[in-house]
Amino acid sequence: MKNIDSLKKQIRHHDYLYYVLAQPEISDTEYDKLMKQLEELEKKNPELITPDSPTQRVSGQAVKDFKTVKHSVPMLSLDNTYSADEILEWGKRVKKSIPDDLEYTVEPKIDGVSCTLTYNKGLLTLGATRGDGENGEDITLNIKTIRSIPLALVSLRQLADSSIVHRPSSIVLEVRGEVYIDKTDFQELNKKLASLSEKLFANPRNAAAGSLRQKNPKITGTRKLRFIVHSYGTISGAEKFKTHSEFLKLCEKYGLPTTLKNTKTVNKIEKVLELCKKWETEREKLPYEIDGLVIKVNRLDQQQKLGFTMKSPRWAISYKFPAKQATTKIKNIIVQVGRTGILTPVAELEPVECAGVTISRATLHNFDEIQRLGVKIGDTVLIERAGEVIPKIIKVIPLSGTKRTGTEKKFSIPDKCPVCKQPIVKEKEEEVAWRCINTVCPAQLERGLVHFASREAMDIEGLGDAAVEQLISKKIVSDFADIYYLKKDDFLKLELFKEKKAQNLITAIANSKTRPLSRLLYALGIRNVGEKAAITLAEKFLTIDKLMDATYEDLEKIFEIGPVMADSILKFFKLPATGKLIEKLKKAGLNIKENVKKGPQPLKDKTFVFTGELKQFTRSGAEAKVRELGGNPTSSVSKNTDFVVAGTSPGSKYEKAKKLGVKIISEQEFIKLLLK
Ligand code: IVH
Repeated sequence: MKNIDSLKKQIRHHDYLYYVLAQPEISDTEYDKLMKQLEELEKKNPELITPDSPTQRVSGQAVKDFKTVKHSVPMLSLDNTYSADEILEWGKRVKKSIPDDLEYTVEPKIDGVSCTLTYNKGLLTLGATRGDGENGEDITLNIKTIRSIPLALVSLRQLADSSIVHRPSSIVLEVRGEVYIDKTDFQELNKKLASLSEKLFANPRNAAAGSLRQKNPKITGTRKLRFIVHSYGTISGAEKFKTHSEFLKLCEKYGLPTTLKNTKTVNKIEKVLELCKKWETEREKLPYEIDGLVIKVNRLDQQQKLGFTMKSPRWAISYKFPAKQATTKIKNIIVQVGRTGILTPVAELEPVECAGVTISRATLHNFDEIQRLGVKIGDTVLIERAGEVIPKIIKVIPLSGTKRTGTEKKFSIPDKCPVCKQPIVKEKEEEVAWRCINTVCPAQLERGLVHFASREAMDIEGLGDAAVEQLISKKIVSDFADIYYLKKDDFLKLELFKEKKAQNLITAIANSKTRPLSRLLYALGIRNVGEKAAITLAEKFLTIDKLMDATYEDLEKIFEIGPVMADSILKFFKLPATGKLIEKLKKAGLNIKENVKKGPQPLKDKTFVFTGELKQFTRSGAEAKVRELGGNPTSSVSKNTDFVVAGTSPGSKYEKAKKLGVKIISEQEFIKLLLK
């Protein structure tokens, strides 16, 4: 059926754009819509479901145990080097066997989980872990949920119309690579786990490994895992290749993501060393963690000549970066209270250099972690910085001879909130997080108000950390609504506030009263309700009163709202403090309605992308305006974009719009559209 084929084609195309090229052209909601349409068509026409349909990625069945599979060719490991000298020595050894025409490739060593994928007659039939190198575990169902992995091989030329008919069907291709998670996705995942009071992953590699070993593929499917090919097992029937770089190119042609973009080929070992130096800083720019580089002899005939030792190829080595770890002393352990009341112990450290930055604090995550590590104040500890993540403490370092000097102090778990002195609780016995549940706790109020005023929420410019901290410590504000009752004089009482700044803030606060309901819902900081969910709720209920009247059943009926979120929403609105707060906000004159649906909709169904700096709007303000008038603001340009609004110094979206022939308008022209 034409529709089904075209939907599959579109979805695969967007998977590829998102996960392989990292250049999405549609929003997640638009993507979900396409998936839903395909699911519905396939439900009506089950005979048309093919094994490579995007709907076949997540199977309903959980497995009891993973089956063992024997690898067709063992999955070896690599010899490690840690210095330029060791690389030079390896180069010399290689040169002994291959004196001339040597070429080396240098590529990132992805810090993920080693896996092998088998494509039989072009279809993905097996995904397995490395295991002990000889035997791995069959994790095919989990592998299939990874959207950067094509379920069927395609050549890049055919990708645009990759119907099953065009698949190169005679190929058996076993590719090997790493399953990993991007640094930002890792942080998001940990944030989500923290909000559910679940155990966090220590680093992206553990997150990838843990997600891949889930017995229920549905969970794996939610984890934003990715895959990148770096080597191969058995191959037959595929196009021939003579070098490692040609192999990577071939994989790209089949639609497989590889290290190609970040692989350099050089002909001198000195150039390899230069690249190693360069990557030590460049690594931060990659979206994923790498722990080093892999240097390979490029030509396959030369690889063959060099052969293997028992454990590793002689034609490749890994170069491990200097560790992002350092040793220092814990001066003190303090406890911070977050926006949702969670208590987090933080170690104050003697400042230490670690991978180019000075570190003076490290998170201890929760009180269980302090016990697990056996950390005391005064201990010498090993700390580690991984990507953008806050540094963490790995272990206590025993001092030579004796473990401790005797002057170390045990940290005692507080029984009260360190800020408001009210009792703290564990909401469920199995949770690790302790919380302060006092809704008027100043610490929660402080973090909450900063969130309330943030750009994505009520967008109140000038109401940041410093101002909020003073408003609360001076007891000028005791809930979010209080800010709408402040006078200029109140701000003049604060440090650093002069006439103009105070006036600007008063205006910004007043302007925020017209934000749509969705913004307010997000701003309120209801647990588990993010920006997207807030928009959904606002669009469904239109007024805050209707949302406050909603029952569990009303909420559960909504596709995007799960039971956990429904529960949080109900709990939030049941709190007496919430009722009071909403009344106070209403009295202050806030627009507690979703204004998207009312009024003329001159931008109905028109898609807008903003690039560059606007003079009369903040980015989020302009996007809200578009939404209010029926349009659709999106973040990336595609041929379906109706308008690209270019402010000053527009970025790559401007170039892309030009290339695709999308209409580009100025801010002035945009304003004219709003007034139509
Ligand atoms: S080539 C014979 N290339 O590192 C092994 N491996 O310590 C050939 N790894 O288990 C592997 N990035 O999974 C190769 N660009 C890369 C890699 C890479 C990460 C992993 C690999 C292997 C481990 C070896």
